[in-house]
Amino acid sequence: MRLRRKPEAKQKVMEHPLTVMEPEKVKGRWRNLFGNDQPIYMELGTGKGRFLSTVCQVKPGINWIGVERIEEVLLQALQKAEEAECENLRFLWMDIRQLDEAFAENEADRIYLHFSDPWPKKRHAKRRLTYSFFLEKYKQVLRPGGHVILKTDNEQLFDFSLEQLEAAGFRLLEQTRDLHNSPFAVDNVMTEYEEKFVSRGMPIYFLMAENPGK
Ligand SMILES: C[S@@+](CC[C@H](N)C(=O)[O-])C[C@H]1O[C@@H](n2cnc3c(N)ncnc32)[C@H](O)[C@@H]1O
Repeated sequence: MRLRRKPEAKQKVMEHPLTVMEPEKVKGRWRNLFGNDQPIYMELGTGKGRFLSTVCQVKPGINWIGVERIEEVLLQALQKAEEAECENLRFLWMDIRQLDEAFAENEADRIYLHFSDPWPKKRHAKRRLTYSFFLEKYKQVLRPGGHVILKTDNEQLFDFSLEQLEAAGFRLLEQTRDLHNSPFAVDNVMTEYEEKFVSRGMPIYFLMAENPGK
């Protein structure tokens, strides 16, 4: 993603009403923040936020949370979310490595990983969002039976993720190597990256795995 640094982005992100600052204070109380008992689904690495500002309207019965660490990118997601006018959507400006500081054990129901950076070099494998370090965090914040859903254009990242999820004890529920020519295409909501890859005719890899719990 080409990035133009904007010195004012930090301030705008911090002051935006949809940004939850100091998430450690909301930890264990996200449902109070939303004022309802709906399930909590999050997208990790929102990019410019197309998925969330669409899906929050399509599925109002879910509390949606976006996590993104780059403020210029998050600001674009926040601006898009404003237009969507969803009450059930918030954002966290933080690194996914700290996910367990923002969510209590079993607090979340679903995690979406969409077109995460593939980090193709072997020596960078630990940075992939399905590396065991991250999966342990997801296991902690997801309730038993909660889901990790992954979409990617990158076959190596997909195969790596299948291996890591299995090693971490997740149960593979669904998978396809061509999402858009599969039954899962019916209620698929496209992300920014996905639209780009699909318009080039590239297949999209998809999986859904279940958190076994402890
Ligand atoms: C390739 S983009 C995909 C964006 C979007 N999900 C989509 O499908 O269009 C990946 C995004 O994840 C964010 N990201 C990567 N690692 C992260 C981390 N450890 N913590 C927070 N955000 C991260 C990046 O800043 C980037 O915006």
